Amino acid sequence: MNPLVEGIHRFLQNHILSTKISQSNISHHDTLIDGLPKRYTIYKPLLLLPVNVFTSPQPWAELYSSLDNSQRQLLYESIAASFSKSGVTHVALNAPIAVMNSVGTENRMRSPVGLVPLHGDFGPILDPDSTPDDRDFKEALWVQTVQNGGIVQCWAPLYTMFSRGNITEKARILGQGNRFAGLDESSLNGQDVGEISVVDLYAGIGYFVFSYLKRGVKRVWGWELNAWSVEGLRRGCLQNGWRCKVVPLNAQGELKGGYEDMVNEITDDDRIIIFHGDNRLAAQILGNIQPLLEEKGSWAAIRHVNQGLLPTSQPTWETSLRILDRDAGGWAHVHENVDVNEIDMKSAEIVQEYERFGYMKAVNMTIACDYVERVKTYAPGVMHCVYDIHVEFDKQTWPYK
Ligand SMILES: C[S@@+](CC[C@H](N)C(=O)[O-])C[C@H]1O[C@@H](n2cnc3c(N)ncnc32)[C@H](O)[C@@H]1O
Repeated sequence: MNPLVEGIHRFLQNHILSTKISQSNISHHDTLIDGLPKRYTIYKPLLLLPVNVFTSPQPWAELYSSLDNSQRQLLYESIAASFSKSGVTHVALNAPIAVMNSVGTENRMRSPVGLVPLHGDFGPILDPDSTPDDRDFKEALWVQTVQNGGIVQCWAPLYTMFSRGNITEKARILGQGNRFAGLDESSLNGQDVGEISVVDLYAGIGYFVFSYLKRGVKRVWGWELNAWSVEGLRRGCLQNGWRCKVVPLNAQGELKGGYEDMVNEITDDDRIIIFHGDNRLAAQILGNIQPLLEEKGSWAAIRHVNQGLLPTSQPTWETSLRILDRDAGGWAHVHENVDVNEIDMKSAEIVQEYERFGYMKAVNMTIACDYVERVKTYAPGVMHCVYDIHVEFDKQTWPYK
């Protein structure tokens, strides 16, 4: 039997059917059992139930709404128990990630504010906008999953989103899926993947960062606003065996300390440098670091800039041009939610906008959309797409600044 159905069924038998209400008093008993929800996700040790698990179908919804709090706790316990073999100790109700929060401002950190803990100790429930300290990190529930042939990702489900649907985009970066130019010798014009670096302007817990690292790039420079995601990324790096350095930024997105000190601490073993803060000064920060690392012989040309913000990554398109290597150029990976009927039109729009940036700065560039990956359906009629924008600078007119 499906373990979710089994957990509910066992609860009904032990606490409902055998006590107050007899089996015959529950109308359509067989229909009720047949229609019990079956879908779930496990991110060990958490069982995530879909948002409609207690509201559909009708007979089950009616029965659930008649349960008092203590009966509901018994139900959640019974569900957790039927998943114990899979290592489940906690249960929560999932919710879609809201782009806006309850006070009408943008949920910039994409915090899963709608997730409802049902069973197990999730630690103190903190305001997602507050700044967590080490104790908060220690007390929180952390979950993990292994994807794409062994990459571990860790996150605190109350404070950080996780999207399973991005697995195909990760596979593409790993060279296990659809076309992805710029990570093999032929599309890098003879350069080895271990000699290039990548920037992820919306690093999260390392969703795409880890795929680039596993593919063998020398280093990833990441930006991430959410302290919980930065900590998840740090923990994930430890588990995967990659050295990671976290660099705090101030509220304006500037480095808190000096550049020389920071650069002196970087060694070739640091595979990811994650800036904790806003990416608005990313190009300027990298522009300051580059000559210092070049002096140490430790700079690797930035050939990819990942921009994984939905519904649109437009705020960083211009930044990506300022970051890509001026000699060799590279690829800007533009994530967008697009009307399924306008996917090609969007590609032309993005290319035009990149060309306009060049025109404004009097820099000649060759811009082309190499490929469009349809990652997943985001909502009915809306597709999460990644546009691979190939950029080459004309050496007569660069640098683009
Ligand atoms: C949608 S999530 C990224 C998830 C991942 N790329 C994916 O598609 O699954 C966007 C991330 O960007 C971060 N973020 C949003 N605006 C940012 C900014 N201006 N600077 C740095 N990070 C930002 C959020 O905290 C969040 O973790």
